[in-house]
Amino acid sequence: MTSLREMRFDDLFKINSLAFDSLTEMYSLTFFVKHLLEFPELSQIAIAPGPEGRRMGYIFGVYHLTKNNEIYGHVAALTVSPEYRRIGVATTLMDFFDRILDFKGANYVDLYMRVSNKAAYDLYCSLGYALRRTVQDYYPDQPNPEDAYEMRKYFPRPLEVQAVG
Ligand SMILES: CC(C)(COP(=O)(O)OP(=O)(O)OC[C@H]1O[C@@H](n2cnc3c(N)ncnc32)[C@H](O)[C@@H]1OP(=O)(O)O)[C@@H](O)C(=O)NCCC(=O)NCCS
Repeated sequence: MTSLREMRFDDLFKINSLAFDSLTEMYSLTFFVKHLLEFPELSQIAIAPGPEGRRMGYIFGVYHLTKNNEIYGHVAALTVSPEYRRIGVATTLMDFFDRILDFKGANYVDLYMRVSNKAAYDLYCSLGYALRRTVQDYYPDQPNPEDAYEMRKYFPRPLEVQAVG
């Protein structure tokens, strides 16, 4: 069974080595530290059962306010180590993230992904995310930049009941 816990500082030195495939974006230690300090509950690591407690995957996210004071969440990074894929680890991490944002009263969660990343596209669709738009050359790879899909999931909120006078 997958268990999640808040990321610790000692995890940050290990997580870039969880996955080296081309679809896993590499981030600096500064990126991870900033997220962990600002949004600790949205920086989660999945741990395998057993005494070694091996790291299986992680998620980093944030939340912000729109100009209209509405809360929205953003998934900044999600990766699962190749040896633990297709057993529901990403689903567990994303479900946890969505539940926290829903609890905070967020209207939606969004994220960007490479258009070539079929596994991620299928994952997000299976979780209720939908394609909102394509952003050209979002990933500045040289010599061939890649477009991104912005994926978004809305949380249903009850309509305000208007008092009829
Ligand atoms: C994408 C990724 C996070 C999926 O992690 P995972 O733990 O294997 O995903 P899950 O086991 O929770 O999969 C849930 C569903 O997503 C879809 N999915 C996941 N991997 C898939 C793949 N390789 N091909 C097609 N669909 C896939 C399936 O619908 C799957 O359900 P199923 O196994 O019942 O068919 C993982 O492959 C990964 O880390 N990739 C590299 C980094 C990356 O792309 N991150 C996302 C950047 S936006």
